[in-house]
Amino acid sequence: MICVDKREDIVRRINNREATIYEPGLQVLLEQVIDKGKLSATSDLRHAVMNSDVSIIAVGTPFGDGRIDLSYIISCTTEIGEILREKSKYHVVCVKSTVAPTTTDIVVKSILETVSGKKVGEFGLSMNPEFLREGKAVEDFINPDRIVIGASDNKSFNVVNRIYKGYFKAPIIRVNLRTAEMIKYTSNALLATLISYANEIASICEETGGVDAREVLESVTLDKRFNPKVGKHLINPEMVSYLRVGCGFGGSCFPKDVKALISFSAGKGYEPQMLESTMSINETQPVRLVNRLEKTIGDLDDKKIAVLGLAFKPDTDDVRESPALIIIRELLRKKAKVFAVDPIAVNNAAMMLPMDADELVLLTDYKVALQNANAAILVTSWPEFVCIPSYEFVSLMNKPILVDGRRVYDKKTMENAGISYVGVGLEDTGEVENHGYQI
Ligand code: UDX
Repeated sequence: MICVDKREDIVRRINNREATIYEPGLQVLLEQVIDKGKLSATSDLRHAVMNSDVSIIAVGTPFGDGRIDLSYIISCTTEIGEILREKSKYHVVCVKSTVAPTTTDIVVKSILETVSGKKVGEFGLSMNPEFLREGKAVEDFINPDRIVIGASDNKSFNVVNRIYKGYFKAPIIRVNLRTAEMIKYTSNALLATLISYANEIASICEETGGVDAREVLESVTLDKRFNPKVGKHLINPEMVSYLRVGCGFGGSCFPKDVKALISFSAGKGYEPQMLESTMSINETQPVRLVNRLEKTIGDLDDKKIAVLGLAFKPDTDDVRESPALIIIRELLRKKAKVFAVDPIAVNNAAMMLPMDADELVLLTDYKVALQNANAAILVTSWPEFVCIPSYEFVSLMNKPILVDGRRVYDKKTMENAGISYVGVGLEDTGEVENHGYQI
């Protein structure tokens, strides 16, 4: 396997057996494959294409100006096309990047044909999406649920199929190129929609009182129509987890992909109402938490607020589209003093936040953030935050108010310790006895 990157520093670090992103298990895996001589990195694309059977395009496809930006796909495809002009051996170009339906069989195909002077068939075309979660990318790669291979013809399918066949237990699903692209978008849009649905139910429960959205959703997901039984045990934890109430989804995929699908769809003349709602609920959700805090504490002007978590979820230093950024900007707008804390995402967050604001401090020690704070908002459920005992909130904070944006703390324990507790999916002062479900 030959990895290609334009950045020499990345190439050098990979060849020096150093993982260039934070991802559990990646460092060990990289060392193993390099030591076995199975992987090397280069900035020489020509060398890589000439000495391989498949080029997997895995460049970024950011969303900007209301549409997906294909510039990296276009430049990479053009360079590969130029090399294919000279290559006599059959070669497959496989798109791994998340792209809208028709990108591979219209944009990529026409660039390759024009630049290489060859027709599809003389070279192969495939679209093979990934479904990896950040923080679990290695685990998800080793244990995929399905492997989707879109192919232009049998020959290109067979070449890509050989990469996977026999190495994974998951079913390999052969589809056409557009379907492969659509499967990826549909998968992310469904998961994002489940989260917004859960958060909408949370808001209804908050306004109703006496009902806990988390208890409602846990019960609902036991329905065998979307959670099939295996023997006596039916819980598919992933299904339950994507209906977990919270302060909204972030990251490099869900927001970008839902927006890209909306814009793709609008371009085709269909306005997708549900996907629009998925996004608008998600944009409102973090602001709603700040508003609920304001309702409890009063004017936020000059109040010290600790924000627990900057990353869009635990086990990553990625802050892209993190709800924490929206919450912090909203708190600053309301003139609060914000002390935000995260074990590993502080440097990345500093690049996205107005660091010249005196009212904003980024930290790695939650105790410093909680010291004399008027309120704390839990945004990212890092284990070290989830484990903060109630006595620590009480001893460090000033008349503590705890806004639980991920529903990880026990309301009763916190209230018994004298903490005012505000939880997503629960009325502010609502008394709800949670029983949990028993099987
Ligand atoms: C996602 C998809 O899960 C993955 O299949 C795809 O390849 C890339 O996009 P990722 O962005 O890494 O992966 O994060 P994920 O673990 O799915 O969580 C996304 C966001 O949703 C996080 O901000 C998380 O906190 C939030 N979330 C998740 C909820 O708010 N509630 C839930 O029930 C589940």
